[in-house]
Order: sequence, then C-alpha cells, then structure tokens
Amino acid sequence: MNDVVRMATAVDAGQLAELAAVTFPLACPPGSAPEDIQAHLATTLSAENFAAYVADPEIAVLALDEGGTLRGYTMLVDRPDPDVASALAALPSMELSKCYVHPEYHGQGAAAQLMEASLEYARLAGASGMWLGVNSQNARAIRFYEKCGFRKVGTKSFRLGTAVEHDFVMEHRFGD
Ligand SMILES: CC(C)(COP(=O)(O)OP(=O)(O)OC[C@H]1O[C@@H](n2cnc3c(N)ncnc32)[C@H](O)[C@@H]1OP(=O)(O)O)[C@@H](O)C(=O)NCCC(=O)NCCS
Repeated sequence: MNDVVRMATAVDAGQLAELAAVTFPLACPPGSAPEDIQAHLATTLSAENFAAYVADPEIAVLALDEGGTLRGYTMLVDRPDPDVASALAALPSMELSKCYVHPEYHGQGAAAQLMEASLEYARLAGASGMWLGVNSQNARAIRFYEKCGFRKVGTKSFRLGTAVEHDFVMEHRFGD
C-alpha cells in the first residue's frame, strides 16, 4: 500500500466528513437511533467542522492517505479535560478524540499505523500520556486500544442525541 500518515489540512475537510459518515455509525452502540447519529454527523463531523478542527491550534487531525484517498484519521486534542484528569496517572495527557478507519481497511494494520503516528505526535508535543473515551460496547475498538498499550482507568458519559452513552476512559502512559 502506497500510504502515508500526514497532518490533514482544510483541503481534506470534505473527504474527512465523508469518511466520518461511513465510520462514525460503526462506533455507536447497536441500539442508537439513526436520527441521533445523523444529528451528530451534521453538528460535529461535517466538512465545516473539519475545516475548523484543522485550523484550531489545540487540535491535530492526522490522516492515513493512500495516493490521495483518505482511509482513516485520528483527532488529537491538546486541552486539559477536568472531567478525566483525576483518573489519569500520566500528565500532561493528550486526548485521542477520534480514531476511525474505513471498514475495508480494518484488520490490516492501517489503524496501528495511524496510532503509531498519533502517539509519536503526542510524545513530540511533550505529553506524558494519551487518553481516550470509548463506548463500553465497542469491543473491537477496546481490544485494538489494549493492543496499542491503553488500559481502562475510569468511565465517562457521552451524549448522543437524547441518549446518554457510557464510555470507558482508557490511558496510555508513555513511561510504562
Ligand atoms: C477501532 C478501529 C480503528 C480499530 O482498527 P482495526 O483495524 O479494526 O483494529 P485491529 O484489527 O488491529 O484490532 C481489532 C481487534 O479486535 C478484535 N475484534 C474484532 N471484533 C471484535 C469483537 N466483536 N469483540 C472483541 N474483539 C474483536 C480483532 O480480532 C482484533 O484483535 P486481534 O488482533 O487480537 O485479533 C477500527 O475498527 C474502526 O475504525 N472502527 C470503527 C470506528 C470506531 O469504533 N472507532 C473507535 C471509536 S472510540
């Protein structure tokens, strides 16, 4: 595969939104209402949202680019979250806010490649660890994060439309 992980820019906003529309529903628990998923896509994962994310100095969007087509992306947020700080041992910690790979590329190392670059980005930025929230029913993602060195350290609630979902908080301590 002729692919590379690189920083996304405003030019990528449309492709990132298309990728999000395919991949975000896969991260939602089975009972999620389709209208809640659509609302989340429209308000949080639109091309306009991605254009704003890539312009935000506290945010980095890393994209797995295969010859100009994006196969996956991560979003890293360098902003302390008071709700999770007490659960984390390695501070400062960068948030892995999104980690999504197109389903045609699952199980092939694409996600690991993205994760490696994301961890490297956080280390170079001076973080001592990385944390994330993952839906407690998303067994595939939890297994993937465990393989990458993350451990469950707490829980956090996440609102999807009218439903309140429960996330595990997972942490990767760079010193370990
Ligand atoms: C999460 C994601 C990035 C991981 O990438 P991936 O290519 O699927 O990851 P891998 O295949 O390397 O690892 C997944 C692991 O889960 C296992 N797995 C698959 N389905 C599973 C299930 N239902 N229950 C438990 N484990 C499962 C796989 O066997 C594999 O483990 P193994 O390597 O020990 O066999 C990707 O699946 C994805 O984009 N999912 C949709 C979006 C999402 O949920 N993102 C995370 C939001 S927090």
